[in-house]
Amino acid sequence: MSLFSALYESRWLLVCATLVAYLVYKVWVYRRLSAFKGPFGSGWSELWHSATTISTDAHAKYKEACDKYGPIARVGPNDLVTCSVELLTHMSAARSPYSRSVWFARGTRTRPGEDHLFSETNENIHTRRRQQMAMGYSGKENLELEDTVDVYIKKLIQLIRTKYLSTPDSAQPFDFGQKAQYLAVDVINDVGLGAPLGDLDTDSDQFRYIETTEAGMKLGRLSVSLGLVFLLQSPWIARLFGSSGKDGLRFAWPLRHARARINERLRHDTEKRSDMLASFVRHGLTAEELVNESILQLVAGSDTTSTAIRSIFLYLLTHPCVYAALQAEIDAAVADGTAPPAPGIISETAARSLPYLQACIKEGMRVHAPAGSPFPKRVPDGGDTVVVDGKPVFLPGGTNVSVAMFALQLNKGIFGDDAQEFRPERWLLEKDEKKLAVMNRTHDLIFGYGKYQCLGKPIALMEINKAMFEVSSVIFSWVRAKD
Ligand code: HEM
Ligand SMILES: *[C@@H]1O[C@H](CO)[C@@H](O)[C@H](O)[C@H]1NC(C)=O
Ligand SMILES: *[C@@H]1O[C@H](CO)[C@@H](O)[C@H](O)[C@H]1NC(C)=O
Ligand SMILES: *[C@@H]1O[C@H](CO)[C@@H](O)[C@H](O)[C@H]1NC(C)=O
Repeated sequence: MSLFSALYESRWLLVCATLVAYLVYKVWVYRRLSAFKGPFGSGWSELWHSATTISTDAHAKYKEACDKYGPIARVGPNDLVTCSVELLTHMSAARSPYSRSVWFARGTRTRPGEDHLFSETNENIHTRRRQQMAMGYSGKENLELEDTVDVYIKKLIQLIRTKYLSTPDSAQPFDFGQKAQYLAVDVINDVGLGAPLGDLDTDSDQFRYIETTEAGMKLGRLSVSLGLVFLLQSPWIARLFGSSGKDGLRFAWPLRHARARINERLRHDTEKRSDMLASFVRHGLTAEELVNESILQLVAGSDTTSTAIRSIFLYLLTHPCVYAALQAEIDAAVADGTAPPAPGIISETAARSLPYLQACIKEGMRVHAPAGSPFPKRVPDGGDTVVVDGKPVFLPGGTNVSVAMFALQLNKGIFGDDAQEFRPERWLLEKDEKKLAVMNRTHDLIFGYGKYQCLGKPIALMEINKAMFEVSSVIFSWVRAKD
């Protein structure tokens, strides 16, 4: 009683003390990163950063921040973004003491409390899991990869030829972006689970898989921005939405599908095949771990790849000179036998030998990087000093450092004054070897770097190369038929 009344007596003192403590804390947080400038108020509150991550143009806002405030800009009390190649490669280097920030676990988990390679923030577990999975992704133990990709490229071409080729007496407009998604989803389901969904066969979003993963990503973005992840990842809510993989609503479907396919494969023919799943099993992944990883694969592997194919095409079709030059190269490749006659599909090796095609692919992925997420890394406890643009910079421990991918890929210092423009020739005409090497190194970061670098890169590039060559040929032959 007496304690109570004593507290009551001094209530104003307590309120003031709390307020002062709060202010001192705020000032301390502010001062930790005060060496870095950023948008108004971003050093004091999460408001700017939350509003930015909720919006669908965070990639553009991060770019603005770097353009305005330099290669390291402050976007939140504890958050920096960077477009420095030095810093980005330093953070993700093989033995770097940096780790993934909690963003990964919060934003990319597909099941409450359970991690996959991408959401894993524990470095030791991540390193071991990555070793177990690298072979399956690389193609060394995934011998069926190229044949599998060919099957679906053929289906895509077939679909366009039979259903969507315009003739002089009837126009057949169609949404190519959607067909690119069907391709990516069918390929990754076959490559990853040994079972396509049949999107290209049926010309539809089977099981509303694309709709579901898009909704899932939107939900993930919103809940991370609003700090509601604890809700989304509570087992109770998850059960309600079905993401726990038991029964329930739409989010359960991709998980159920993956689990069923994996169990089937483990019962029957894992020994006989040499695909990704077989490789993972050989390297010791259990059935449940495979389920965790498969969902990551399906999401990471379909949205990014189809975005790449879509944007390269968009830039190609809106740049007639580039289009004509590519057409000439493709015609020559068909004429001299570099590419097999239809319905054969060009080999990846042959596609990679076509310099202009390569330049178009590289440039399309540069002006619109397919993965624009922040992928924040955490500065090790005790902080770290890095040299950026010749100056040493101290980063306090625990700070999140995100990549400003669009600032990086559209950097005028690296790509020249027309960095914003789609000009494939920049990769072919650059005489300065040193400058070209820097351009290459920067471009490579589209797939991340070092210990976190995209494992799906060979798969993605194989799909993109073949799709770009073959779909372009179909469109060109159509244009000629019309003349
Ligand atoms: C154009 C297509 C793609 C782009 C631009 C892309 C981009 C990226 C980036 C930037 C990262 C690293 C994130 C970080 O720094 O933490 C990453 C990681 C990853 N990607 Fe991709 N990706 C693509 C396609 C794919 C495909 C097709 C697959 C699967 C078949 C895939 C699977 C993965 C996996 C498993 C990781 C995690 C690696 C790890 O945690 O060690 N990606 N990707
Ligand atoms: C940055 O770090 C803080 C503290 O660890 C964390 O609460 C915050 O959510 C992080 N931001 C992002 C974008 O991960
Ligand atoms: C995957 O799933 C299993 C079983 O549900 C779980 O114990 C594990 O923590 C998950 N994550 C990883 C990285 O294996
Ligand atoms: C840049 O990358 C291309 C392949 O994309 C390669 O052929 C070329 O040799 C590289 N140039 C330099 C200077 O690194």
